[in-house]
Amino acid sequence: MDAEKVIELDEIEDKLGDVRALVRGTLIETSLGFLVHDHQSLTASGKLLRSRLGFRLAEQLGTDHRRMVYGGAAIEMIHTASLLHDDVIDGGMIRRSAPTFWVEKGAAGAILLGDLLLFKAVDLVCQVDGTLAHELVKLTGEVCEAESEQELILRGTNSTLDICMSIARRKTGALFAFMAYCAASDDEALRVAMKEAGYLVGTAYQMADDILDVRGDAAAAGKTLGTDRQRDIVSSAEIDDPCRHLESLCARALELLDPWPSARAGLVNYLEFDLRPAMDKLTACPSR
Ligand code: IPE
Ligand code: IPE
Ligand code: MG
Repeated sequence: MDAEKVIELDEIEDKLGDVRALVRGTLIETSLGFLVHDHQSLTASGKLLRSRLGFRLAEQLGTDHRRMVYGGAAIEMIHTASLLHDDVIDGGMIRRSAPTFWVEKGAAGAILLGDLLLFKAVDLVCQVDGTLAHELVKLTGEVCEAESEQELILRGTNSTLDICMSIARRKTGALFAFMAYCAASDDEALRVAMKEAGYLVGTAYQMADDILDVRGDAAAAGKTLGTDRQRDIVSSAEIDDPCRHLESLCARALELLDPWPSARAGLVNYLEFDLRPAMDKLTACPSR
């Protein structure tokens, strides 16, 4: 395997197209299929950063394409479900540059559609690999635990950077960890290292998003901002300058993959072409 291989832009867009098609197809098969056409932001306008991580790693490791497409579709559906619920909780009005689903259809509809997406996502991965499905359930449980903890234990309290990083790791890192795990081969040590690398880069991404929430411009971001402060949630951006931590989290992720040059090359490509450009957009925001 060529450790230096960079996936051409068109090639990765094709792979992401397969993920989008499976997400749409899965929703269309349900009685709620009409929503795919009326609410493009549900299935067509996310950045697919979690799937991109999986494909960048899989390309270097030769992982089965169907496994990655099913894993990617499942993770994007779970991520979208978490946003449907999050916008109800945060009172977010704009998401992916469109009115949020709850604004258009009501909070009950957003909660119920989120639940449907969650279980359809698990079903997709069950069709590929039972062990992988178990990993998906465990990691999605971490997302729910972190979100609940943030709301029911931490909200309104003085937080610390360690607590904020632990929340970021679980509420966002866990889905990145799943995609990295999904791309790994049967080598157990590599699987563990890739999963942890996924957690680290996902934590960095959430911390960049915390900065956006405090300092960003809502029109440019295409979503409602300032909700952490409004809801009395202390994120890392309120405690420290999290910019300092983003690079060290990414560097630690790369270091973990040092023993596996192909996997490391996949992560290098992901950081260069996908994650860093996305994080730069979140953190290069005008001060409010
Ligand atoms: C937004 O995630 C919420 C976080 C977990 C930080 P993304 O920025 O990946 O959202 P989309 O899918 O591209 O809209
Ligand atoms: C989104 O969290 C939900 C999860 C990460 C599970 P945030 O509230 O931090 O994300 P945005 O800023 O609304 O996109
Ligand atoms: Mg939010």
